[in-house]
Amino acid sequence: MDHTVNATDHGTGHGTGHGGTPPAAEPPPGCPAHAGGAAAVRLSGLEYQQTPSELYRALRREHGPVAPVLLDGGIPAWLVLGYAEVTHVTAHDELFARDSRRWNQWPAIPADWPLLPFVGHQPSVLFTEGAEHQRRAGVITQALEGLDQFELAQWCREIADQLIDGFAGGGRAELMSSYAHALPMRAAVRMCGMPAGGDDTEDLVTDLRISLDTQDGDDPVAAYVRVQERIQRLVREKRAAPGPDVTSRMLTHPAGLTDVEIVQDLISVIAAAQQPTGNWIGNALRLMLTDDRFALNVSGGRLSVGQALNEVLWLDTPTQNFIGRWAVRDTTLGGRRIRAGDCLVLGLAAANTDPQIWPEGHVGAENSAHLSFGNGEHRCPYPAPLLADSVARTAIETLLERLPDVVLAAEPEELTWRPSIWMRGLTSLPVRFTPVTA
Ligand code: HEM
Repeated sequence: MDHTVNATDHGTGHGTGHGGTPPAAEPPPGCPAHAGGAAAVRLSGLEYQQTPSELYRALRREHGPVAPVLLDGGIPAWLVLGYAEVTHVTAHDELFARDSRRWNQWPAIPADWPLLPFVGHQPSVLFTEGAEHQRRAGVITQALEGLDQFELAQWCREIADQLIDGFAGGGRAELMSSYAHALPMRAAVRMCGMPAGGDDTEDLVTDLRISLDTQDGDDPVAAYVRVQERIQRLVREKRAAPGPDVTSRMLTHPAGLTDVEIVQDLISVIAAAQQPTGNWIGNALRLMLTDDRFALNVSGGRLSVGQALNEVLWLDTPTQNFIGRWAVRDTTLGGRRIRAGDCLVLGLAAANTDPQIWPEGHVGAENSAHLSFGNGEHRCPYPAPLLADSVARTAIETLLERLPDVVLAAEPEELTWRPSIWMRGLTSLPVRFTPVTA
């Protein structure tokens, strides 16, 4: 069976909640669903809990640092909740590897399984291992390193201004769609060398939005086909006339990636950048607009933007859970017996709030030892976290400068989270402010 799919996302979970739930598959004996006789936890459904930290605390109390869970359709896996255990798994890719074709559950996976877009093997950097991963990730790292952070901040400022001009006169806005998600998407497309404002750039932005964040009435498959075609054309154009952009640097890298590989990896980079950065912006804005510690500083409170961004990475991280790693051979983890081919979900949010690293109960230090960007060989490649920080910081600072009296246009408890156990982000962030003419 071919488990290759044409999806782009890096396990951010936009697929959860889409489509019907396939019939439950009976797990074979010895798999996580039967671990130690304890009932495995059904992950689908838990996304409706509004306070993930309480959920993870309860799971940890009941199951320890590695919990047997059931994914959509009753498919068994392990949820790694402990900081030490997530660090161990991600640091030992020879034991817990990334190629999902190792999974011992493939015979039970239906063709329309909702998590297939994140788990089905793709010929991109995400699923490569060993020397091949180093080659592919090395090209991405060096291509991103060529970006001037000040120039990126300048682009983000321009993009932010354009987006704000679009709603500033109305005195009200819904920031998730019109700002938090729109800005990193445009920044990523520009990094790759597509001119800002061009018609086909706008089409690409729309198609990426549809394929990554499908809404009712969208056709994500058709949109993804158009994304692929546009990126293929971009690669051809940059082969003919290279420029100072990520695409050209990937094409001219001595590792000699093929055009097919570059198209795959460019789409992975754009997709990997989009959802987490958009939700990072949204979650930090929510914190600043709802928490008294930040409220005083909202107008022009530059210092507190960095604090809000860091606190979100500890307490409300966008990539809550990441699927995943697959055991190369039988082993043990957190007292559990793991079989070759078992799937492990990285519980990044749970690990960040693990009481083992926060014995005093005070979570959210000013350091960055959280696991929100992953860890080990497949972690978010340097310098992507720095670039994401620059995008997010510029987005929030520009909004606060342009709309200094912005406030929430709802009660904080009315804000709702997207129904996903994978990605933590708001469904909407309504705000009001004094209308400003551009
Ligand atoms: C400019 C923005 C970003 C870019 C270009 C980017 C790019 C990437 C890429 C290419 C990978 C795949 C690495 C591999 O498999 O070797 C990755 C992984 C990852 N990224 Fe990012 N990313 C960005 C922002 C973010 C943000 C804001 C977060 C969360 C706060 C995030 C969290 C992660 C995580 C958790 C992984 C690790 C997956 C794993 O362990 O397998 N990324 N990123």
